[in-house]
Amino acid sequence: MQLLQVKNLSFQIGGQSIFDGLDLSINPREIHALVGTNGSGKSSLAYVILGCEGYTPTGGEILFEGSSINALRLYERAQLGITLCWQEPARLEGISVADYVNLGKASIDTAACLRRVGLAPEQYLQRYIDKTLSGGQRKRIELASVFALRPKLALLDEPDSGIDLLSLGEIEELIHSFKEAGASVLLITHREEIVLIADRASQLCGGKIVLTATPAEVATHYKSRRCTVCDGQECHHA
Ligand SMILES: Nc1ncnc2c1ncn2[C@@H]1O[C@H](COP(=O)(O)OP(=O)(O)OP(=O)(O)O)[C@@H](O)[C@H]1O
Ligand SMILES: [Mg+2]
Repeated sequence: MQLLQVKNLSFQIGGQSIFDGLDLSINPREIHALVGTNGSGKSSLAYVILGCEGYTPTGGEILFEGSSINALRLYERAQLGITLCWQEPARLEGISVADYVNLGKASIDTAACLRRVGLAPEQYLQRYIDKTLSGGQRKRIELASVFALRPKLALLDEPDSGIDLLSLGEIEELIHSFKEAGASVLLITHREEIVLIADRASQLCGGKIVLTATPAEVATHYKSRRCTVCDGQECHHA
C-alpha cells in the first residue's frame, strides 16, 4: 500500500488556481523528489498535505496509509506521523536547542540528532535559540527536530537552502537517514544533484504533476524547460 496518495487535487488561493487535477503518490520508505520552478506550488503542496490553515483543497482526496485525511486537522495529521521542515526556518527564540529538538523527551538521543545535521552537540546542546543563530544554523536545528520526531512522512521543503556548509554527501546522508529510520521523504528541491539522490521524482508544472519517473529522467525533463501541460511548447511555467 502506498503511504501517501494525492488524488485529483484542486486548490485555490486568493482567487488563483494553484492545483488543478494533481496526482501524486509516495511509497513507504521512499525518497521522492519534487521539482518545479519558483511559484509552481511546491511549498503549497506540502502545506495542503500537512493541513495548514488556509490550505484546504477545493477538490480531490488525500489518503495516508489508505485512509482519507481530508477531514483531519493539522495536529491529527502530525499524530499520524506527517511532519514538515519549513522552507524558512522558525524565528523562535528563548528555548534551548536541546528542548526544541527533543520536546523534553528523555528517550530522544538529542546529541545524535544534532550530529545528523552537522552540528557539534557540545556547542549546541546547552545553547539557547536567539538572534545570534544564523539562518543556516536554524535550518539545521529544525531538520534535527524533524528527525527526532521519527515521522512516517517527512516533508522537507528545500532542506539544503541556506545550508552552504553541508556538502552534497552530508545532505544525502541526512536524507537517507530518514529512510533508514523507516520514513518516507518528500524532498522539495531546485537542485538537480539533490533530485538524483531520490528513489523517484515528480515535476510540478501548471498545477499538475506532469511527470513521475526516475530521478535522472525527471531532472533531464525539468532542465529541458518543456512539459506536457504546455503541449510540448517552450514551457511558460518554467
Ligand atoms: N498565502 C498565500 N496567499 C496568496 N498567494 C499564495 C499564498 N501562498 C502561495 N501563494 C501563491 O501560490 C503560488 C505557489 O507558491 P509556492 O510558495 O507554493 O511556490 P513554490 O513552488 O514553493 O516556490 P519557491 O520555489 O519560490 O519556494 C505562487 O504564485 C504564490 O504567489
Ligand atoms: Mg517554496
